[in-house]
Amino acid sequence: MPKLIIDNREIEVASGTKVIAAAEQLGVVIPRFCYHPALGSVGACRVCAVKFMDGPVRGVQMSCMVEAVDGMVVSTTDPEAVDFRRQVIEWLMLNHPHDCPVCDEGGHCLLQDQTVAAGHGLRRYLGKKRTYADQDLGELVRHEMNRCIHCYRCRRFYQDMAGYRDFGAMSIGNRTYFGRFHNGPLESPFAGNLIDLCPTGVFTDKPSRFKGRRWDFERAPSVCLHCSLGCATTANARYREVVRVEGRLSEQVNGYFICDRGRYGYGYTNHPDRPRKASIGRHEIPYNDAILTVADRLSAIRHRDGIETIGCATSVRASLETMVQLRRLAHGQKWREPTYFFDAFPQVKTAAAAGRLTTELAVSLEEVGNADFVLVVGADPLNEAPMLALAIRQAVRAGAKAVVLDPRPVGLPFDFARWPAAPRDLTAIVHAVTRAGVAITAAEPYGAVGLTFLGSLPTAISGGKLAADRLRVVSGWLRNSRRPVIVCGTDVVYRSTVNAAADLAVLLRGEKKRAGLFFVLPGANALGAAFVGAESKPFSQLLTNIEQGEVRALFLVESDPLNSYPDRQRVWAALQKLDLLVVMDYLPIQALELAHVVFPSRSVFETQASFISQEGRLRVASPVHQGGIPMQQWSGGNPPPLDFNKEIPGSDAKAAWQILAELEATLAPYPRANTLHQLQSEIASDLNVALWEDSDWTSADGRRVGFNDSDAQPFASVPTDAADEQEMDDRDLVLLRVDWFYGTEELSTYSDLLPKLEPEPRLQMHPVDAAQLGLAERDGVLVRFPNEDSVRVQLALADTMARGVAILPRHRLLPWQQGGKEGPVVVAVEREA
Ligand code: SF4
Ligand code: SF4
Ligand code: FES
Repeated sequence: MPKLIIDNREIEVASGTKVIAAAEQLGVVIPRFCYHPALGSVGACRVCAVKFMDGPVRGVQMSCMVEAVDGMVVSTTDPEAVDFRRQVIEWLMLNHPHDCPVCDEGGHCLLQDQTVAAGHGLRRYLGKKRTYADQDLGELVRHEMNRCIHCYRCRRFYQDMAGYRDFGAMSIGNRTYFGRFHNGPLESPFAGNLIDLCPTGVFTDKPSRFKGRRWDFERAPSVCLHCSLGCATTANARYREVVRVEGRLSEQVNGYFICDRGRYGYGYTNHPDRPRKASIGRHEIPYNDAILTVADRLSAIRHRDGIETIGCATSVRASLETMVQLRRLAHGQKWREPTYFFDAFPQVKTAAAAGRLTTELAVSLEEVGNADFVLVVGADPLNEAPMLALAIRQAVRAGAKAVVLDPRPVGLPFDFARWPAAPRDLTAIVHAVTRAGVAITAAEPYGAVGLTFLGSLPTAISGGKLAADRLRVVSGWLRNSRRPVIVCGTDVVYRSTVNAAADLAVLLRGEKKRAGLFFVLPGANALGAAFVGAESKPFSQLLTNIEQGEVRALFLVESDPLNSYPDRQRVWAALQKLDLLVVMDYLPIQALELAHVVFPSRSVFETQASFISQEGRLRVASPVHQGGIPMQQWSGGNPPPLDFNKEIPGSDAKAAWQILAELEATLAPYPRANTLHQLQSEIASDLNVALWEDSDWTSADGRRVGFNDSDAQPFASVPTDAADEQEMDDRDLVLLRVDWFYGTEELSTYSDLLPKLEPEPRLQMHPVDAAQLGLAERDGVLVRFPNEDSVRVQLALADTMARGVAILPRHRLLPWQQGGKEGPVVVAVEREA
């Protein structure tokens, strides 16, 4: 641990720390353009100059390039260093267009700040400036190259960190150009990070262009709800409209970066068709009248049909507060237990995952990035949890081996070993890898149970020499690893695979490895739903109860079964049978058409809301504005009215938990948790940790819930866990409905930005399977379900996927909610006549 002196203060830092980072630990922020903590140093800009006064290094040097060592004496304020930095700024500004008045970076531009700070206020160079042509980089990122100062942050992120090659540095020296070979959209799904990274205004956020300066925006810490990782974000709003989302530093989760779905998926909150007023039968009414009407109608139904005829459903996008308040209301009123998932197939896997996570096993994204071996089982990182792909890439860059065991044609921006396998084979493969890759001593800490489990696993797998070779290679990597991480999905896999993955991680821990377990779950608050709704029944049962007249009233609380249940027609018919359908939502969902009473609720940008990420981490979003119809929509595109006295139009919406609490107060006079604080205390005791009681919860990293470690049951994956797995013939073609990066995730499909970027939905099949059916690439095909439903779609062949499966995205443009069966389903595929 070297000790050095910076600006007359001593500091001890970890070996390998650069002087610029050591100074930061003292609170001394040395100017920088090319240095970035996530990207490291390249010494390109020369603006971080300091003077080494004594010790092993002397003179003016770049503080980002010199490692701190014992005995260094550094001055950041020595006149020679200050003058050096001033001159660097002056030469960096020689070619700058001085277009700050029309640059969206103005106000939060590092170049602007450093120019002012360095005292460069007078332009002396009067010659011609170097100029470049800008490129059209697509819908999201604006390119204005004349502002470039050649710091190389963009290229280092795009190519090195994210692993994409369609953008880079071209030409040489003073002419170096940062762009694409041709105009065209940036291909990386992480491209939006260029906007946050570029220290000047070369890359700016295109959708929010000219919508305001940084200081004009209301800003608040928020959380991304577009997958289960819960990345930290900062939301920006102006005139009641969310206009931009940026990455927020969370060391343990997303680092500095987010994916483009998280950055640009926010449009749902500004949607012009959002419910804004409480209504009954499409007639707007005062909010309190709606509460009283619902209470009256419920009372009538209760007296006529009994209390058991009232049901309620929420979903994995609802906050913890909403879930717990709904459960309170249902329990207090003796309604049916709420449902939290529409599809029972992911529900059972999420419950299994929740039961297998322990304090020791659960790892963060940061720890995934530090792994030396990553086995991905039944997960498609880029499509299901994009920042996971970025984390695994960092591990691979540092030398880790990565293996993906999945039926889909998984694409990732790094080298990995692909092991395509159908869902029904995954558990057996994980068991074989466990048997071959884990020493028998690993089971000893678990006694006879562990030894029996390990001993019972197969030593070989079917699939011939190719499978045997894969098993040998993968188990060898596993044996040689010190920090392995097992990543497991919960969408296409069976429950036994979730348990097999967890058992492998448990055994690796038994081997004294720093092994981790990382689940990918089906939604932002899926783990919260698994904890809160441990007693809940599948939605299909509620549907049957409605069909049989046993449920007469239904609450849909931020949940859309017409979008998420795999039988839209059946849901539609069932909802029409209800005497009372109450919808609380901030999305313009289809069920609004059938609702008897509608309550507009607040989106995550308009209320404090908490979620539990897949790792068990509390993620808390703060409101960035108070809701209401965006002024642009309200004024028909005219400038905002200068009238601040009237009430905000469209601001009737309340947080869903609050609507439920008010209904509860109207229905029954028993003690209630009717403040957010009371509700959160109840949740905290439920989740076994004082989540909101100290300052941790406001930090971007948050804190973990308390897992019931003693309840976790290892070695549950053989042999009986396969009981819920469906019998399928090897010759069957099994349809898997999956998520893609764009076009499938519920919230982002309401964004006005992302639909423009969606690829056409396609059915994917292995070329050999397609040839056997006489099908070819781009054929129009019919996917026929056993119940005679069918979906028309174009075929795409992929030889990197498993045989015997067909992959259909849950794309908003496809009526994929067919077939009536949850989970994998046997289908026939034929050419469309
Ligand atoms: S475009 Fe921005 S990030 Fe890239 S080199 Fe230029 S100034 Fe640096
Ligand atoms: S990885 Fe997931 S949580 Fe993170 S920004 Fe992307 S969609 Fe949002
Ligand atoms: S920050 Fe050190 S040379 Fe650019």
